[in-house]
Amino acid sequence: MDANRLKELGLLPLWRLKSGTALDRQPSAPSVESSSIESSLIQQIVPEAQEVILSAASDRDTTIAHADWEQLEQMVSVCTACQLCQTRRKTVFGVGDKQADWLFIGEGPGAREDTLGEPFVGQAGKLLDSMLQALKLGRNQNVYIANIVKCRPPNNRNPQDIEAQQCRPYLLRQIALIQPKLIVTLGKVAAQNLLGSGDSIASLRGKLHEFAGIPLIVTYHPAYLLRSLTDKAKAWEDLCFARETILMQQRKAQQ
Ligand code: URA
Repeated sequence: MDANRLKELGLLPLWRLKSGTALDRQPSAPSVESSSIESSLIQQIVPEAQEVILSAASDRDTTIAHADWEQLEQMVSVCTACQLCQTRRKTVFGVGDKQADWLFIGEGPGAREDTLGEPFVGQAGKLLDSMLQALKLGRNQNVYIANIVKCRPPNNRNPQDIEAQQCRPYLLRQIALIQPKLIVTLGKVAAQNLLGSGDSIASLRGKLHEFAGIPLIVTYHPAYLLRSLTDKAKAWEDLCFARETILMQQRKAQQ
């Protein structure tokens, strides 16, 4: 666990973890002897600190896992679990129909989303809206849109693993509350993150995957499609496959 994470969890400095022990006493002038005592104390405290961290992390996960929509949105709006909070303007919680059959998951907010607090509102968002329209869906019509991370990674870089990990409980709770019939991941970051895979979009698309028991289909990111016209046709195939998957579920439910 790195120092930043310990700090976020309010566990630094380590020597304050326990009260009434030698760890409470800050060493005076460092000497060879005191620094060796200190290092042996640090060795003792590390496993203990790890336990505290793990239980703090699992407390956080549990709280998030029990949140209702309002609580969840409030938690996200004040979240400081990773460094993205330092550079964000607005958190981008997600938007849409909270009982949607379709859940679209992107990567993370860009500049416009960071300003407006809503996912996919830039050029890529316009393309996503037309893709939805082609399916007779809309961002408030049977669709919910979320991202792997709720804060903008600076300069539109990919979210780091630790950032995605810290944000994951929020997304998991959104998924649990929505209970979508289908998840469509937009782009490599979302697909790889949810599938725990390092494979390319090209090899992940066209197959029916699953996330937490929910069918999952991989397609290209709309921002990529703006640059690659040839893959637009493939994205359309993916969406038709997605629509067929939902229809099949409905037919099965009617039998
Ligand atoms: N790209 C994403 O992945 N998500 C957004 O919300 C906007 C752009």
